[in-house]
Amino acid sequence: MASDEKETNGIRLWSYVVIIVLLSDSNALFKFTNVKCTCYERSFCELKLCELKVLGRGIVGLNLHAQVHKLPIKSTTCVLTMFRRFSGYRPFLFNATLDVCHFLKHRKRYPFADLVYEGIKNFSNLNHTFPMQHDIIVSQMILNDDMISKAPALNGFYKLRFVVKTDGVWRGEVEVYAEVNLGIDRW
Ligand SMILES: *[C@@H]1O[C@H](CO)[C@@H](O)[C@H](O)[C@H]1NC(C)=O
Ligand SMILES: *[C@@H]1O[C@H](CO)[C@@H](O)[C@H](O)[C@H]1NC(C)=O
Ligand SMILES: *[C@@H]1O[C@H](CO)[C@@H](O)[C@H](O)[C@H]1NC(C)=O
Repeated sequence: MASDEKETNGIRLWSYVVIIVLLSDSNALFKFTNVKCTCYERSFCELKLCELKVLGRGIVGLNLHAQVHKLPIKSTTCVLTMFRRFSGYRPFLFNATLDVCHFLKHRKRYPFADLVYEGIKNFSNLNHTFPMQHDIIVSQMILNDDMISKAPALNGFYKLRFVVKTDGVWRGEVEVYAEVNLGIDRW
């Protein structure tokens, strides 16, 4: 039975090695690949920062600073659309128009938007309800595997687009690109 035991340990060691390899591979898991921001009107907003930065091996942080010239920000609508790359990015699974004030007060009614917000909240100053009396800042936001463990994620390249309207005027948009690479297809 001693040999059986050795074999089991061997397998355990082997899966451990596989996990380490997956985790340390910078192409693995869930990470940002690009970000693009646009302010439609300089008189309303200006982008001081919209970039990805490598924070460590395989760790990519997102920084965004949109200076807002007309405060406070009150009524805000956001069109949130997910895309997946096939040949070119196509709308995929989620597209909705959100009243952001309503969303912030009743988050549980918007499961997908809430998942996205949970991912952003800790890294931004958008962590409270309206009105917003300040610039919009996201600082060193990182993605982690837990964020997609709750969502049906397939390996691939994705884009999430936020188009924002305040006081009835379209103000700008942010497009965030990410890669999901779990090493294996879960589905
Ligand atoms: C997404 O939904 C909005 C309305 O909520 C609509 O105007 C827009 O055309 C839709 N976009 C796509 C890509 O389906
Ligand atoms: C945000 O912070 C809370 C409290 O510190 C923590 O429980 C949660 O896991 C964090 N979420 C993310 C996405 O980092
Ligand atoms: C929001 O974030 C700021 C800066 O990170 C922090 O000082 C503040 O306590 C947070 N507010 C809430 C309601 O979590």
